[in-house]
Amino acid sequence: FESKLELVRSHIRSFPDFPKKGIVFRDVCPILKNPAALAALTDLFEEHVRTSYQQVDLIVGLDARGFLFGPLLAQRLGLGFVLIRKKGKLPGSTTSVTFDLEYGQAEVEIQDDVVDPGQKVLIIDDLLATGGTLCAAWELLKQQQAEVLGCLVVIELLDLQGKNKVKPLPVFSLTHY
Ligand code: PRP
Ligand code: HPA
Repeated sequence: FESKLELVRSHIRSFPDFPKKGIVFRDVCPILKNPAALAALTDLFEEHVRTSYQQVDLIVGLDARGFLFGPLLAQRLGLGFVLIRKKGKLPGSTTSVTFDLEYGQAEVEIQDDVVDPGQKVLIIDDLLATGGTLCAAWELLKQQQAEVLGCLVVIELLDLQGKNKVKPLPVFSLTHY
């Protein structure tokens, strides 16, 4: 476990002052470039899900970097993968939820026929910051009558207390900054 975690952690790059002065951007791209690190990450998520949940029906990924890790995990678990996207990208009948960003607002959207009522779902993303995106995704899934069991992220930014914002939803984070 520790060596897999170290492999993941050592493939996260930090960029000071991106995208704005004062922000340290945590970049997961090196994990994707290294097959061993990506396999270790998927192993850790898979182990967590298998040991923590009796039944999961669906993995739901958040735009855009949840799409990089979610399908790999879903395949390992023999589950389907569903997308929550930024508004305006998905065809057909959709539902959206607006949420506050540090400056301004954003909106996320889901197709109305991709989750069945009562399905047990896990949300996956690369990073938890303020928790705004995750709260909006949770709200969308509740509106679809899904049962959201928890969320998995590669990185949790502790200063921003996103975990408090999404309480009582359990968040499993592999690394913390
Ligand atoms: C980042 C990150 C999460 C979200 C977390 O995505 O990948 O999805 O922000 O922030 P929050 O916890 O404060 O809501 P971003 O909005 O930069 O979009 P992108 O993945 O399309 O680059
Ligand atoms: N990395 C990636 N996405 C983010 C970050 C970060 O450091 N902060 C907020 N969203």
